[in-house]
Amino acid sequence: MDSLQQAIDEYIKNQYSRYHTPGHIGGEGSPAISLLGEQVFKADLTELPGLDDLHAPENVIKNAQSRAAQVFGADFTHFLVNGSSAGIIAMILAMVEPGKKLAVPRNAHRSVYHGLILSGAIPEYIPVEVPKESPVAFNISPDELNNTISTNIDSSKTPEAVLITNPSYHGVAIDMNKVALDSNIPLLVDEAHGAHFIFSKDLPPDASEYGGDLWVQSTHKTLGSLTQSSMLHGIENLVSREKLAFMLQLVQTTSPSYPLMASLESVIEYADKYHKHWQEFISNRLKYIRNKICEIPGLQLVTPEQITTGFKLDPSKLTIDLRELNISGYKLSDLLRNEFGIQVELVDSNSIMLMLTPYHTERELDYLINSLETIVNNKNSYQIVNNTVDKQLVAKTDIPYPQVEITPREAVYQEGEYIELSEAIGRVAQEFVIPYPPGIPALVPGEIITGDVYEYLNKLTENPEIHIQGFYYSSSSYIKVIR
Ligand SMILES: Cc1ncc(COP(=O)(O)O)c(C=O)c1O
Repeated sequence: MDSLQQAIDEYIKNQYSRYHTPGHIGGEGSPAISLLGEQVFKADLTELPGLDDLHAPENVIKNAQSRAAQVFGADFTHFLVNGSSAGIIAMILAMVEPGKKLAVPRNAHRSVYHGLILSGAIPEYIPVEVPKESPVAFNISPDELNNTISTNIDSSKTPEAVLITNPSYHGVAIDMNKVALDSNIPLLVDEAHGAHFIFSKDLPPDASEYGGDLWVQSTHKTLGSLTQSSMLHGIENLVSREKLAFMLQLVQTTSPSYPLMASLESVIEYADKYHKHWQEFISNRLKYIRNKICEIPGLQLVTPEQITTGFKLDPSKLTIDLRELNISGYKLSDLLRNEFGIQVELVDSNSIMLMLTPYHTERELDYLINSLETIVNNKNSYQIVNNTVDKQLVAKTDIPYPQVEITPREAVYQEGEYIELSEAIGRVAQEFVIPYPPGIPALVPGEIITGDVYEYLNKLTENPEIHIQGFYYSSSSYIKVIR
């Protein structure tokens, strides 16, 4: 038997009396069976004979991971059951020693910051390009990445590793053809939103094509696996596989979910179909819907053509710029959901983003277009208030460059206190403050609250349309600082 799914199926068919974990013993012990169905519980097994062990794989899980590595162009693959978050933390722990530098984009996902806190690595931030003409932040530019990698002739400044987020949540990928990688500096890639890239030549290249050493994909985000199931792929060269496997044990559960792992395996089995479906979808239905949306007066799509040189766009991320129409993204998203039964992926004051897949039917897509047209044509009757957001607010010049006093790890272990923001200039932050848009932290634990940061935060907090993550005290007039 070489498939995990077959092994699970075989176990179910044998109808063993289950005197083992999980305690629902195949479903009888759980009232959730009416919501989730019997089969999920039957397949929810554990490391039993024939079912292998994720942390020391020898047969069915090992085989599935090897096949995944082949599909995704890697030397090896680890299945992840705690999301890409776990893979990102593990790769940082494995590749960067405490006190060594890790270059990261300033708008990195919070799991990268968690990796910095757990590892004690020193962040070296790479600024993110936020063009004035775009409603969303792009990514780090190839020039910035080249500077980080190659101008560090002074070896004391060379980062131990470089981590990129490629693509961004909005599907903006760095044009890696324009980046000269250093073969001695490991490239770690948060490819959470790019698991599907390998399946079409019309999508940006994936990390296996441009020289990633380790890359993490949220298979559950854009392919067909269950939420929380992801993959970590790697190339042997600069990576200690033993260390990586050990770090994965530190951050992943000892009771990995078999339904999650089986769903990852099913993605690999489906690889040929994904190639066909994604390619057809991008050439036909996706082109069609993008054109149709562009025809709706006032709605602007973020298009590959608008993305300046140095970047590539994943066209399956449909970011609609609402600034011309003057509708708030929050308002439009509420209308779509409440009046038309459509739930979008991501919202901010100036835009909404929808995630499209080959599995959205033509009918569904037509309904989406009709719904948008109806809202735009009846703007007044929907009582859409004008967007109050300063349209230049996300501009690059507004975002102060961080002044790091101590590492995020050092900061979280200090004693803290809440003080009024107006009293905080010159103090060191102990919490994250991340405004959306643009999703780039204004403060990370360990950074000085400068006059510029204070001004920036003041400007943001005045505007109710800006969503701010952080301010744990739940009032933006207080901030947690180191005592
Ligand atoms: C850019 C980015 N990286 C990493 C993650 C973490 O992925 P997961 O939810 O699979 O842990 C996310 C999740 O939203 C993300 O947006």
